[in-house]
Amino acid sequence: MEQRDRTPNEVLAENIGRKKSIAQRRWRILAKALIGPQEPISTMDDTEDEISVRRFTSFELLRIDRSENKNTTVDPDAATWYEYSTVLENKLYTVEIRRIKKNFTANELIGFNNTGNICVWPSEECLAYYLLKNRQLCRNRRILELGGGMSCLAGVIAAKYCEPKEVVLTDGNATSVNNVRRVVDRNGMSDFVECGVVQWAKAARAIRAARLVRAFVHPHLNGLRVKSWTGGRTKDLAKFAAKLYDVILCADCLFFDEARSDLVETIYGWLTNDGLALVMAPRRGSTFEKFTEAAVKRGFIARRIDRYDPTVWSKHLQLLDHSQEYCADLHYPILLELTKQKSTSPG
Ligand SMILES: C[S@@+](CC[C@H](N)C(=O)[O-])C[C@H]1O[C@@H](n2cnc3c(N)ncnc32)[C@H](O)[C@@H]1O
Repeated sequence: MEQRDRTPNEVLAENIGRKKSIAQRRWRILAKALIGPQEPISTMDDTEDEISVRRFTSFELLRIDRSENKNTTVDPDAATWYEYSTVLENKLYTVEIRRIKKNFTANELIGFNNTGNICVWPSEECLAYYLLKNRQLCRNRRILELGGGMSCLAGVIAAKYCEPKEVVLTDGNATSVNNVRRVVDRNGMSDFVECGVVQWAKAARAIRAARLVRAFVHPHLNGLRVKSWTGGRTKDLAKFAAKLYDVILCADCLFFDEARSDLVETIYGWLTNDGLALVMAPRRGSTFEKFTEAAVKRGFIARRIDRYDPTVWSKHLQLLDHSQEYCADLHYPILLELTKQKSTSPG
């Protein structure tokens, strides 16, 4: 049979149909990421013809065992407790972590970012492991974790094993923070670990406002209570902003383009002059570089460390060779150390 040429309308209809089905598949993947089972979905590769989901869960630096569920009542988060453990130099390190597994409501899905309730991301795992191997970094220091998600695993490990002076664990998502509160409680740390909701835009606004007030109204004062310039509206923020931190932890939070400058400002504003921010994140396209540039522009000295731990590095090399799911750009967390430039006194 002779083939006739397709009319422009037929070509258009076919293109629309194909685009629609790509969009539908994309939405299915997104929905699965948000409401599906506890399987981390690191990214989606979508081409015209194919959409595939790359799955990579963990570097297996810590052993993860399901803990006994001590709660007999129905759990609205359908959460499960896990024991994260490892043995280093013949010593056992172990913390209990609660992971949420619930179906998110429509309000939650369209509400504040939920990526921290999907899984414990490999950057958090690597940062936790790095702290265990470098416990002196947190010894006798005030520690703050930003964007710690539902586990704040790195901060929890620091609290339990690094002998810090004080620990504050935060995220912008209230569901994550409520979960972290339960983690802190279960690990018996409630007396020296605080948790709270901190959204970087609000924190940065408060920090900028305080700087203005200090410069123009009270130039002789070094610290002002946040309450006076937030009107006491943001209770957690006010409490945490009343002090500065020696070590700030942050894992896999660099890909939020709209929040980048606020995150930089929050770290800068809350870090002591001789403090250290440990930021762990995969490259994820150009997001790592963009964050580094923004941090340097703000006045940080930035030191990028790719090989921060021999075990993590050798696992990375093995995965590159043997795993189809592993993509270094999306999955290998790089360590960024941020310190403040020393101000030189005139003369
Ligand atoms: C990819 S998750 C990483 C969570 C955790 N650090 C981990 O690696 O498992 C990014 C986290 O950043 C938090 N986040 C995103 N935007 C934020 C903002 N503007 N202020 C505070 N937290 C934010 C999210 O709530 C989420 O928990």
